[in-house]
Amino acid sequence: MKLITQALTILVLLTGCSYVLWSQDDVDHQLTVDVADTRAAIQPTMYGIFFEDINFAADGGLYAEMVKNRNFEFELPKTGWVEPTSDRFSLNEDSGRSTIIKNGEDPADLNFLRVTLMNPDNYTLINEGFRGMGVREGASYDVSVHARPGKGSVTAIRFELIDTVGTSLGSTTLPVAGTSWQEYTGTLRATATEQKARLRITFTGTGEIDLDMISLFPQDTWKGRKQGLRKDLVQLLADLEPGFLRFPGGCIVEGRTLDRRYQWKKTVGPIEERELLVNRWNTEFDHRPTPDYYQSFGLGFFEYFQLAEDLGAEPLPILSCGMACQFNTGEVVPMDELDPYVQDALDLIEFANGDTATRWGKLRADMGHPEPFAMKYIGVGNEQWGPDYIERYRVFEASIKKQHPDIVIISGSGPFPDGEQFEYGMEQLTELDAEIVDEHYYRPPNWFRQNATRYDSYDRDGPKIFAGEYAAQSVAIASPDNENNWECALAEAAFMTGLERNADLVVMTSYAPLMAHADGWQWTPDLIWFNNLESYGTPNYYVQKLFANHAGTDLLHITSNGEAVTGQQDLYASAVKDRERGQLYIKVANTGAEAHSVRIELANAGSLGEATALTLGSPEGETLNSFAAPRRISPREQPLVVEGDQLVADVPAKSLVIYRVDLPAR
Ligand code: AHR
Repeated sequence: MKLITQALTILVLLTGCSYVLWSQDDVDHQLTVDVADTRAAIQPTMYGIFFEDINFAADGGLYAEMVKNRNFEFELPKTGWVEPTSDRFSLNEDSGRSTIIKNGEDPADLNFLRVTLMNPDNYTLINEGFRGMGVREGASYDVSVHARPGKGSVTAIRFELIDTVGTSLGSTTLPVAGTSWQEYTGTLRATATEQKARLRITFTGTGEIDLDMISLFPQDTWKGRKQGLRKDLVQLLADLEPGFLRFPGGCIVEGRTLDRRYQWKKTVGPIEERELLVNRWNTEFDHRPTPDYYQSFGLGFFEYFQLAEDLGAEPLPILSCGMACQFNTGEVVPMDELDPYVQDALDLIEFANGDTATRWGKLRADMGHPEPFAMKYIGVGNEQWGPDYIERYRVFEASIKKQHPDIVIISGSGPFPDGEQFEYGMEQLTELDAEIVDEHYYRPPNWFRQNATRYDSYDRDGPKIFAGEYAAQSVAIASPDNENNWECALAEAAFMTGLERNADLVVMTSYAPLMAHADGWQWTPDLIWFNNLESYGTPNYYVQKLFANHAGTDLLHITSNGEAVTGQQDLYASAVKDRERGQLYIKVANTGAEAHSVRIELANAGSLGEATALTLGSPEGETLNSFAAPRRISPREQPLVVEGDQLVADVPAKSLVIYRVDLPAR
């Protein structure tokens, strides 16, 4: 053996491959996996994504609209708009002015802007975008506007991208005519790349012109859809191969008051008819106020369903259960007024799955999707707790199950993974035979390491578990100083081996929150960071990706001395087989500062094929990814040597390794 090892080591040095071999006596750990012993089926929903419009994740993020407050419906209707006579932002009322005009009572279209021009050469209107607008040299942008020329002689509107000092980056001029509202469209081509561009609007002629729905989108969107989603961000999501897409949150579902809860019916149909709502995260945190944060609902429920379909993910909408955020007002709808909330849930099922002859099924068809979205899951409430929740949940459950017995209902256990509220919720939901309960944990990295065994002792006759929101917090929950560092990501990986080892019970999992704009965030840590041009996955993203891309179909048992690997000498492990791909995936996290040599015996595997190690890690827990180094922490792939039914490998200090082995065809 020694000779073979020496020979192979020389070969390794000569070929430059990092095969690492030991004799049996040399290894620190002997692990065993019985490849023929399936313990449970891994649900296709095991690893999914949680989307919430927090941190500019929708408007200013995934939804590619570049104009902020395009329809002048923000509470301060000119938010995002300035009227400098030059780029020095000094108003010159003799040249022209703009006035907000009340349009009527339609809550989706209360206002438009009237521009009065005396000296058009000296009047401009500028939209600042979402902390600027990201434009790329050579790329084309679709501009559109609803306009109505009034008295006078305004004959054209010019749209021009400008950089931070006012230099033109491309323009287009749209002639306007008539005296009624019309939509005008055109295309701009950017002549340079700029992360903080703005849109400058100027006019030909004098007199009045009314403007509404001023919009600018890149043409290069996800799947090339007009007025669609930002391609690089959706690609990052698609690369995760998520099993489900939970939307639209999060606390955003609940609202700070009931009146400001998320109402899906207001987010579907023509975009100009979608009623704007202030974003509940706008001034939630004193340390990160974003008073210009609203929800245009350009990314609404239809688009969420469509996105889930594009990603091959099960759609998982979460609805208000009639309780506003209990961290805010905690407003509760009286039981005898709960019906409209329940009806919203029933109508949503019709919108997603109903025949096109039904009211809501027809709307889905009118929006371009006659085929049902085949929705299987619905969530009732987000982070609610106490008897008020249970009382309301019961009503939802009875009504949904009566009409749609096959729809699986997700209930919630509140914001914390332990304590009185959690215990009460779990006990009640277990008594009610709830199907899947959502648990949330925003805890320090240490909690994640210690809780790798959390589900080992859960009652197998109780509800299934959705680990619906989790992220290790490097400082404290909601601290602006939390970082997406490697220590947190690795702690999550250790914990995830525990989720996976319990895949008979834990059927859905998702990190939260998903996305953050580098200049517009309120909450950290977040899985994906972006600015107006670029985006990157954090170390936590790559942990999620490695688990999700190697989710497998069958849970196997991996042991050391007959015991699950749950932190002994800082090692955590889980193993799965993928029947369709004919592969075995073993995940080992080493949270310690020492490397370990490991020998893994693969019992009943037959003759093994190629083996690969995907290693993620850094010796320094503080390591981060960034715009400048987006893949500093990302998987490195190396071939592995297989000896008979033994896999011999090392697990570097502070690393997550996925061992991928081709199984013989059966
Ligand atoms: O993920 C951020 C917030 O954390 C979610 O909106 C909420 O559900 C949780 O408290």
